[in-house]
Amino acid sequence: MTEAQIVDRQPKAETLQAEKNYFWCACGKSAKQPFCDGAHKGSDFVPVKYEATESKKVFFCACKLTASQPLCDGSHK
Ligand code: FES
Repeated sequence: MTEAQIVDRQPKAETLQAEKNYFWCACGKSAKQPFCDGAHKGSDFVPVKYEATESKKVFFCACKLTASQPLCDGSHK
């Protein structure tokens, strides 16, 4: 498997709606970061589903190095 593209060295903050599913881009090629836009097709990457249980602000990983996908764990530092 090839490595994911680094999008940014800081997380992307998003305000999510409760009861909604989000699909985080794992490959780094999406033009709609931090979410998947289908650009991973033809690669080994698949998006990671995130289910919002409540409406709140969440920090998604943008360096794609996090060990707790899809959320930032500070690995970009
Ligand atoms: Fe990156 Fe879908 S575009 S995982």
